[in-house]
Amino acid sequence: MTISQTNANWYIYGAGGLGIEVADIIRSSSRAANQEFNLVFIDDFSTEKMIYGLNVVRLEDISGEPAIATVASGEPQVRLSLRNRLVNTRLKLASVSDSTARVSPSTMIAEGVIISPFCSISSRAKIDINSTINTMTIIGHDVTIGEDCSISSMVNLGGTVKVGARTYVGMGALIKEGVQIGDDVIIGMGSVVYSDIPSGMIALGNPARVARKNENKQVFK
Ligand SMILES: CC(C)(COP(=O)(O)OP(=O)(O)OC[C@H]1O[C@@H](n2cnc3c(N)ncnc32)[C@H](O)[C@@H]1OP(=O)(O)O)[C@@H](O)C(=O)NCCC(=O)NCCS
Repeated sequence: MTISQTNANWYIYGAGGLGIEVADIIRSSSRAANQEFNLVFIDDFSTEKMIYGLNVVRLEDISGEPAIATVASGEPQVRLSLRNRLVNTRLKLASVSDSTARVSPSTMIAEGVIISPFCSISSRAKIDINSTINTMTIIGHDVTIGEDCSISSMVNLGGTVKVGARTYVGMGALIKEGVQIGDDVIIGMGSVVYSDIPSGMIALGNPARVARKNENKQVFK
């Protein structure tokens, strides 16, 4: 967490499935640190005023004291665009790590990163701005993950793996140690990746093969 005020507003940008999970993660981690935040969803399209017991506002309606915000979308392009919408606002990106996650003290975690329950982030790993790591994912030593990535649940990244910016790694994928995955890649769920995957591709299967270009850069249809 990057702010120590109690009862400060913590905005969660995106009130969908990941949004409610992030609300739980913030509550769990702030409880463990004896802090309390007033959680608020930002959703620029929802007509609902309250979701999961939290108020829902539009970004343009936020005024007042500076506060912190975490982007909650599993779609890398959406993560990037919501992060960009926060630039020049009163909201500063904040990272959050569930109290059950095991994060090495030598890990570097940038602003806006989400670390979900039961993840293990090993020594000297680097997770860049605004990436999200879902439940029970294992990140090996010296792994680097670029900006605005979405790493699904139960993924295992072997030591020194590199993942480029805005890449999506599907549920349960295994990436062999040392493999490099480019920018704007989608790795299909359950894939086993033994060799490098160039930027801008969708790769699937065991062994993972490039299936096609990632033309519309959208994981969820
Ligand atoms: C990779 C992915 C994005 C492809 O989606 P898509 O473009 O809609 O592809 P389709 O589902 O139309 O499948 C196209 C073909 O690839 C196959 N395929 C799709 N995903 C596959 C995968 N992960 N492994 C192996 N084959 C796969 C399909 O069976 C289909 O084969 P067919 O042409 O012989 O019928 C999607 O399958 C995926 O893995 N999404 C991530 C899911 C996930 O992690 N969810 C987490 C939710 S929190």
